[in-house]
Amino acid sequence: MTGRLNGKVAFITGAARGQGRAHAVRLASEGADIIAVDLAGPLPPAVPYDSATPDDLAETARLVEETGRRIVTAQADTRDLDGLRKAVQAGVETFGRLDAIVANAGICIPETWDEITPESFRDVMDINVTGTWNTVVAGAQHIIDGGRGGSIVLISSAAGIKMQPFMVHYTASKHAVTGMARALAAEFGRHSIRVNSLHPGAVNTPMGGGDMVAGLGRVFETNPQLTHMITSFLPEGIADPEDIAATVSWLVSDDARFVTAAQIAVDLGSTQY
Ligand SMILES: NC(=O)c1ccc[n+]([C@@H]2O[C@H](COP(=O)([O-])OP(=O)(O)OC[C@H]3O[C@@H](n4cnc5c(N)ncnc54)[C@H](O)[C@@H]3O)[C@@H](O)[C@H]2O)c1
Repeated sequence: MTGRLNGKVAFITGAARGQGRAHAVRLASEGADIIAVDLAGPLPPAVPYDSATPDDLAETARLVEETGRRIVTAQADTRDLDGLRKAVQAGVETFGRLDAIVANAGICIPETWDEITPESFRDVMDINVTGTWNTVVAGAQHIIDGGRGGSIVLISSAAGIKMQPFMVHYTASKHAVTGMARALAAEFGRHSIRVNSLHPGAVNTPMGGGDMVAGLGRVFETNPQLTHMITSFLPEGIADPEDIAATVSWLVSDDARFVTAAQIAVDLGSTQY
């Protein structure tokens, strides 16, 4: 790897597994120390795939340490701003600075519009929107105080550029994340802090496990006309978490020093079709 993140410190949420783990390992392999947060516990009841565990978060720590970099982990819920502040504070005390925030924690629930309950709508908004906001709030002042600028990456989705049928709440939440990144980019620019949203298409993670595939199949059967709305232009069809992490690494690095307020799609072209 390049060492282009040597000396930097990154705060990553949803880091126990999937894309968040890949971001932690990739940024560490490029030289960054990591502050890793995850709920590592039960996800809201309507979520159809398995929850992450403390062992998953410990495995992320092991993989980061294997790269030779350091990591501070915390089991915390992004809906709990005080818990996030404590986790970031502990990391900054250990590493002495903060340069990057990767707001990655999120949930996804396939439901037709009339299956969405007040609880599942609120859970998706609370985690995907308020949780993302809390993540920025918990970390941004530390980057500003460092006086060296930095990078904030908000993980949205293809559903934050076009839409994902049968996920009104998810689509609404990821569009909110897109807008949040653009608006934050304007205010943080004076501190040389760049803010971008990143839009993965389908990614091979535990989010696609458990009953997720069956759940998607069931909702698409209610309106087969909408089945082909996610079309990859490339033969692979689905990305690996490491493919998304490569773009996170670039956005965090000085190679992307004039990239801000951008919507970066890593979606095999699917948002264009
Ligand atoms: N997998 C995909 O196809 C896909 C596509 C586009 C966007 N995304 C987005 O990418 C991000 C990462 O997803 P993934 O595929 O790695 O999913 P994942 O379920 O494998 O991992 C998400 C992690 O976030 C954690 N998390 C969830 N809610 C949390 C909370 N309130 N506080 C702290 N941690 C919490 C989970 O415990 C889990 O470890 C999400 O924002 C997701 O919406 C995923």
